[in-house]
This record gives sequence, structure tokens and C-alpha cells, in this order.
Amino acid sequence: MDEKARKLAAAKQEAGHAAADMVEDGMVVGLGTGSTVYYMIERLSVRIREGIHVSGIPTSYQTAMRAREYGIPLTTLDDHPVVDIAIDGADEADPRLNLIKGRGAALTREKCVAAASLQFVVVVDEQKVVNRFSAPVPVEVLPFATRSVMNQLRALGCVPVIREAVKKDGPVITDNGNFIIDCKFPEIPEPRALEIAIADIPGVIESGLFCTFMEKTTLVVGNEKKCRIITSADVIP
Ligand code: A5P
Repeated sequence: MDEKARKLAAAKQEAGHAAADMVEDGMVVGLGTGSTVYYMIERLSVRIREGIHVSGIPTSYQTAMRAREYGIPLTTLDDHPVVDIAIDGADEADPRLNLIKGRGAALTREKCVAAASLQFVVVVDEQKVVNRFSAPVPVEVLPFATRSVMNQLRALGCVPVIREAVKKDGPVITDNGNFIIDCKFPEIPEPRALEIAIADIPGVIESGLFCTFMEKTTLVVGNEKKCRIITSADVIP
């Protein structure tokens, strides 16, 4: 691993471990998806071995498999429609704690779990804290409606691209059996307005814009040595 990759992994580990330490005995925990959440799972498994009892709701097959491997008891959102704390990664976070998520194509289940949670802890490294979004916005789409949805996304001002799979020919198929369209906007001046406009398109399942969770969000920003915490109290109105 080169020095840059080592520092990035250390930053993710700092954030992931700090988030796992926010979990309390008896909690139902939303388990997000991705490489930063991986470190949270790692640390949570240690805390379980030390004696706390938790149940996890995985947001993807990847996370379910990892959680089982690490001995984290699993449950479902149907069994626990109110989640004590959800911990998840993000692709970018802006100063109002709006997020872009979905690089790993798990955005729909992630948004369901975040919405059901009393606390939403988001684990990122410093590079992902931005003043203005520039990452593409992933949109999960019903395959039946792909071309029509792409036309309507284009009308919102983006260049939409169907996400291609790696080690499989053709499109990525999400855990829900749908396609992902990555939407590159030249700028996103009003993220919440865009989230609403995308959600309004028939055939869209969800977008990776997460703009309604600011009040319950704790952003844990890791660097290679420690992390800093940003909450709604730090957001300038
Ligand atoms: C999964 O679909 C995503 O929303 C991830 O949570 C997000 O992309 C962050 O992943 P990393 O922690 O791997 O960067």
C-alpha cells in the first residue's frame, strides 16, 4: 500500500472506530455500506465481544455478509421500524450536512434506514467534506423506465450515464434488482430542490442526495490521526 492509500485507510479507520464507539448497549444499529463502514463493523464486533448487545440492520448484501463474518447479530427494518442509530459513509458532505451517497449502489436501502433512525452518524475522511458538491448523483432506476428517466434527468441539466458493472457484462444490478444512473451536474446550487425534482420522475426509485437528515446527523470526519465531529449545532443557518 502506498503512503497516500495508507493515510486514507487510517482516516477511514479513525472515523469508523469513533462511530462504533457511539453505539450503546441494547441499540438497534443501521449498518451502512462501504469501505469506511467496514472499519465501524470491525470495531463494533470488538465491542460485542467485550459484552455489549446490539442488533444490526444491514443496508446491502455486502454489509450483511461482513456483519455475519464479524459476529454482529442481524435483524430487519420490518422487525425494527425505528432504528436507534444508523452509521453510514458518504461520497461528499456539504456545509449544511447534505450528502451525496451511492457510489456502492446501496443508496435506496441506506436512505430507508437513515429515515427510520433517531440518530444518523456519517463517517467520512477529510477529502469528502466540500463546500459545493461535485460528485455525480447516483439514481436507482426501474430498468423498465431507463430511457424515459434518462431523458427527464437530462432535462434537469445533467449528463446521465448508466453505471457499468465490473466482472459482469452490462449494467450494475442493485441489491433491489434495478439499474444505477450516475448523473453529472455542472453544479448543484440547491441540493434539496434537485432531490425533490429527481424523486418526482416516474421510474426513479431513489437518488443519492440525502438532504433531509441534517438535524439528526453527526458527521465524523477522520484524518490519519484523529477525527472531528460536526453536528447541526455547527451548521450556519
Ligand atoms: C454505498 O452505496 C455508498 O453510499 C457508500 O456509503 C459511500 O459511497 C461511501 O463509501 P466509502 O466509505 O467506501 O467511500
